[in-house]
Order: sequence, then C-alpha cells, then structure tokens
Amino acid sequence: MAAAEERSPLHGTGAAPRELDANGKARYDDGMAGPGVPMKDVAKPKRGNADPVFWDKARAHLVRYGGEFAPFIAERAQGSFMWDADGRRILDFCSGQMSAILGHSHPEIAEVVRRTVGELDHLYSTILSRPVVDLAALLASLAPGNLDRVLLVSTGGESNEAAIRMAKLATGGYEIVGLSRSWHGVTGGAASATYSSSRRGYGPAQIGSFVLPAPDSYRSGFIAADGTYDWRAELDFGFELIDRQTTGALAACIAEPILSSGGVLEPPVGYMSALRAKCDERGMLLIFDEAQTGLGRTGDLFASERDCVVPDFLTLSKTLGAGLPLAAVLTTPQIEDICHERGFLFYTTHASDPLPAAVGLKVLEIVIRDRLAERSRELGEYLLGGLWALQRRYQCIGDVRGRGLLAGIDLVQDRATKLPAPELAHRVARTCLELGMMTSVVRGGLGIFRIAPPLTISKAEIDLALDIFDAAFKKCLA
Ligand SMILES: Cc1ncc(COP(=O)(O)O)c(C=O)c1O
Repeated sequence: MAAAEERSPLHGTGAAPRELDANGKARYDDGMAGPGVPMKDVAKPKRGNADPVFWDKARAHLVRYGGEFAPFIAERAQGSFMWDADGRRILDFCSGQMSAILGHSHPEIAEVVRRTVGELDHLYSTILSRPVVDLAALLASLAPGNLDRVLLVSTGGESNEAAIRMAKLATGGYEIVGLSRSWHGVTGGAASATYSSSRRGYGPAQIGSFVLPAPDSYRSGFIAADGTYDWRAELDFGFELIDRQTTGALAACIAEPILSSGGVLEPPVGYMSALRAKCDERGMLLIFDEAQTGLGRTGDLFASERDCVVPDFLTLSKTLGAGLPLAAVLTTPQIEDICHERGFLFYTTHASDPLPAAVGLKVLEIVIRDRLAERSRELGEYLLGGLWALQRRYQCIGDVRGRGLLAGIDLVQDRATKLPAPELAHRVARTCLELGMMTSVVRGGLGIFRIAPPLTISKAEIDLALDIFDAAFKKCLA
C-alpha cells in the first residue's frame, strides 16, 4: 500500500512523506533531513511558499497546536516586517505573538544574546548570576507598590501558574476567580482561570475555578437607566454568584488590565479599584497579568498604572523578553516570606536562567531609554484615529477601542444587533495577508481584530497598515 493510504485521516490530506525507509521512518526527496542525510543539507533548496517538501514534512511531523498554520514560510524578520519564501515583505501587525515590542531582531538584543550565550547561558536552577539579580532589582524598582520579590521563569502560563500557587499557599485557600474572556495560559492552573476559549475536551478544570463576567462595555447586558454600561451592577452580580459558590476558601482573583485575547476589552475607570475592594473584603489576593499590556504597550509602563491599583502579584511575560522566552512574577516581601516559610516550590529547569535575564535587562533599558511608553501613547492615538476613520467608512466595523498600541476592531453583522461577524473577520485577515500584513483575529468566534504592532513602529508603517485594512475591507465587502 502507498504510504499516503496507510496514514490516519488525522494527518490530513497530502501529508505523506515521499516514502518510508526500511525502518518505516519518513524519507524525503531533495536531500532534506532523513536517514543518512546530513543536517547541513537541510533547507538548502529554496522553493518559495509552495515548497511541497516543506509542507509535506510539516504536515507529517508537526502537532497542530493552534488550528491551521499560516500559509507561508517565514524566512527572515527584521524591525516591523517579516519576509516569506517568495521574497514578499509582510508587515507584522501583531509583534510576533504580541511580544516583539522592539520589532524583530533588534540589533542590541541580538548583540546581548550573542555575547551572553557565549559567556553565561544556563545554570543549575539554584545558582544565581548577576543578570538575574539585576533584573529582579530593576523590575522591583519600576513596579508599583512594594512588589519587591521576583521569580524569573520562561512563559506567561508559567508565571500565572506560579502566582496562583503562591496565592493558594499564602491564603490557605484554593478557589481562583477569573474573568469570562480571559487568557492566562495553557498549563493546569492558568488554563483553569482561562475562559476565552479552549476549555472543552480536557476534563475538569481545577476545583474551585469561578468566573466573573468580563467587563465588555460594548456588549454587556448590564445597562443603567441612562443607557450607560452599569459595570458596578455587573461586578456586584458576579461577586454575589461567587459568594454563593465559595466553600470559604477563596484565594485569588486573576485579571488582565486590558483583556487582549478576549477581544481587547478595557475595563472602565474605577473597575479595577472596585475589584481590588471586592478582593480585600473577602481576604482574596489580586493578580494582574500584564503579559501583553506590560512594558509600555498601552502608553504606561504597566497598564494597571492608569487605575492606580496595586495588585498582590504582577505577572509579566511576552513583552519582557520582547519575543524571547522570559517571564516574571512580582509579589510583596510579606507574601513571599509566608510562602517560603510554608515551603514554596516552583523549581523549573529555566528558573533564573542568565541568558533570558540579560535579554530582559536590555529590553527594559531600551524601553525606558527610548521612551517607548510615551511613543506608544502618541502613536496609539494616531492609529486609533485611522481606525475610527475606517469605522466611518465601513458599517461592519461596530467598535474600535484600545489604549496605546493595543487596539481592537470589532466586526458586526449589523450595528444595531452587534452580532459578531467572525467569518468576515477571517476573510479580511486572509486578504490583509495577501496584501502584505499579518493580523490577529481573537479566538472564540468573536470576529475581533487584535492589533499590537511593535512599539518601534513608524507612522509610515501605521499608514501602510491602515491602507491595507482599507483595501481588504473594500475587497471583502465588494
Ligand atoms: C494575558 C496573557 N497571559 C498569559 C498568556 C500565556 O502566555 P504563554 O503563552 O507565554 O504561556 C497569554 C498568551 O497569550 C496572555 O495573553
């Protein structure tokens, strides 16, 4: 039987390697990696985006961890652009995975990585080094309140996992409250507090996972007599339900200052301090997850500064490494001392690794030196102005919102019903890509573009993005 016919339908069609070797392993044409093929020959043939050998190999050997892969092969990324295998330039309007705030391959970051990997790369996790201690001290000095103790890990999920574990240990509780359009990661505790998508199919979340309605000022059903969004009534209602569900073991509430993956939902002014008060009344700790909003993205170094609310834990990730894997948990000495006394353990392979810490130090130096938070505020106003102009032109744009260089475009079937238009959003996103711009539509059938370009983006590049959006809407609505 031909190799392709033997394959499970889960592999999809056209996924078969050319043939199998004597041991049943995949073999590939054209000197690609395979039995007896030296690795130096790998990826030699450049055949453009359609390269069948590349896609055959990808389909045969990659787990599809997030739906479909983008339909091009990335060869290079620099500044605000990527280049694909056809030599096309693609504007990256999502900073990689909302992370590359300095643009791609920033020369100073490249230099730090080159130097540090040759001097002090990775260590046994109880060994400390200067970049780790310096980064912890710098983060503590920049963060609000007395969030003076820092744990350095690799990913956002991990940082939230650690914060949740510390909150449980410090309070003695185990119940965790999250917002209904949240994304905090895919590891156990973080996934249990993630409600925007992907809960189906994995069995029970952690016991004691409670949900609060996300503050959605565009679509909430809580409307006051004067027609405005009654977020106080919504929050009171949410906590009334939590008070009825709790077994008396509330540990923490975790929230993003702007819910990015949930569709760029910005809690109204006053919401976060009311949330803080609700937590305090119940002896719960408050975790702010600033994976996407941290380090200047929204016009302040931390988005939670706008609300003047200091959490008990601040988690940072994506933007801290500007695209390289680095994450941090900041908490108070009081909480850290209690956790330490109670035997806190979060011992990971890459905790306190010097290489990513050195990168984090350089990222912070550049963000502060180049005043990227201010830049984000100014360019954000420019971007939002352009998006509002598009909204005036296209009825399908129900709402444009955001702060700094984090913006959302909410597509609707009609403005009166506000029914989401996810299919149209995906069509517009595909057209944008054809026209040379990578965008991100949030998961969960919402039809909302989440826009987060590098903070180093130029006005001319924003103009290019607006032109591409304009052309894509025109084409898709024709
Ligand atoms: C707010 C927020 N927190 C946490 C995470 C998880 O981060 P990671 O994918 O690095 O685990 C994400 C990822 O999108 C996020 O947006």
